[in-house]
Amino acid sequence: MRELRRFGLALACVIMATSCAAADKEALVPLPPPRQEGGMPLMEALARRQSQRDLAPTPVSEETLSSLLWAAAGINRPESGKRTAPSARNWQGIDVYVARADGLFLYEPREHRLRRVLKEDVREAAGKQPFVAQAPIVLIYVADASRMPDASADAVAFYSATDTGFISQNVYLFCAANRLATVVIGWLDKEALARRIGLPENRRVVLSQAIGHPAKEPAPEPDAKPAAVAKEAPRWRDGAYRGSARGYVDDIVVEVVVRDGLVRNVTVVEHKESRPLRALRDLPRRIAMAQGTDGVDAVTGATVTSDALLEAVRQALAKAAP
Ligand SMILES: Cc1cc2nc3c(=O)[nH]c(=O)nc-3n(C[C@H](O)[C@H](O)[C@H](O)COP(=O)(O)O)c2cc1C
Repeated sequence: MRELRRFGLALACVIMATSCAAADKEALVPLPPPRQEGGMPLMEALARRQSQRDLAPTPVSEETLSSLLWAAAGINRPESGKRTAPSARNWQGIDVYVARADGLFLYEPREHRLRRVLKEDVREAAGKQPFVAQAPIVLIYVADASRMPDASADAVAFYSATDTGFISQNVYLFCAANRLATVVIGWLDKEALARRIGLPENRRVVLSQAIGHPAKEPAPEPDAKPAAVAKEAPRWRDGAYRGSARGYVDDIVVEVVVRDGLVRNVTVVEHKESRPLRALRDLPRRIAMAQGTDGVDAVTGATVTSDALLEAVRQALAKAAP
């Protein structure tokens, strides 16, 4: 009889564990890999950085959200687990929540995924101005005092504010670089929002931040090129084209992707160069911005590598000529 009871108990445990794991799995939302290279030059993004409150209801793609979250507080040095934003004593005390029409999610940087926290839409509690409730994405920054163990209450408040500021500015710059509109929000009932989210006592809402495509401009692709060039007739045939040229050590092979007649992406697919790699990192973006190699100069101190990369792109584009 005792054996039977023990068996019953074990079976119940297995069933519970399985259903918990299934429920947990359901709550996890994987994100596509974030874009960690290319994009607008920093100085241009700084020149464009601004608060914009006129947001279109157009959804923000999962690809953009993924890169946005990585830019906000993602891990940029996997060996140490450190982030794109600094944090006092590396406490990493700020959590980033994503509020959308389909619920509330916690960003988990280590796994680069979202964890669903609520099925309800809490956006209207994340800011007193009406546009916040309509923003496709509202980030909510939550400070966790239990991760700042040696800090006084004043220090917790101070570091919660500073560390949130760094994350928020990363988001501002990402939005500027990707032609998204954003504004950070301090005008909200933080206690009411914390209750709505169900935060425990030691966690506080610091700020929120509304994000969307700007209402006044069409929503451009993140990799779209400057508007002035985009208006011209297509120059290339769509497709993916490869070219190669001899670098310092061996051939550098590139792939150029053309979509809607425009150079959308330039990728170095093979190389054996050991240094300096800046040319391989910077030139593809500059070539995409210039829509070709015309006017793109070699990177100082890396002329051989630069010239080879430019020649490889020229060869690839020759195959894409209309
Ligand atoms: C801590 C903080 C809280 C803010 N809260 C709000 C807010 O609740 N609502 C809002 O519309 N803008 C808010 N802003 C945005 C400021 O109004 C904006 O940054 C300022 O007007 C300067 O404009 P700029 O960001 O375009 O340079 C806040 C900014 C900061 C730094």
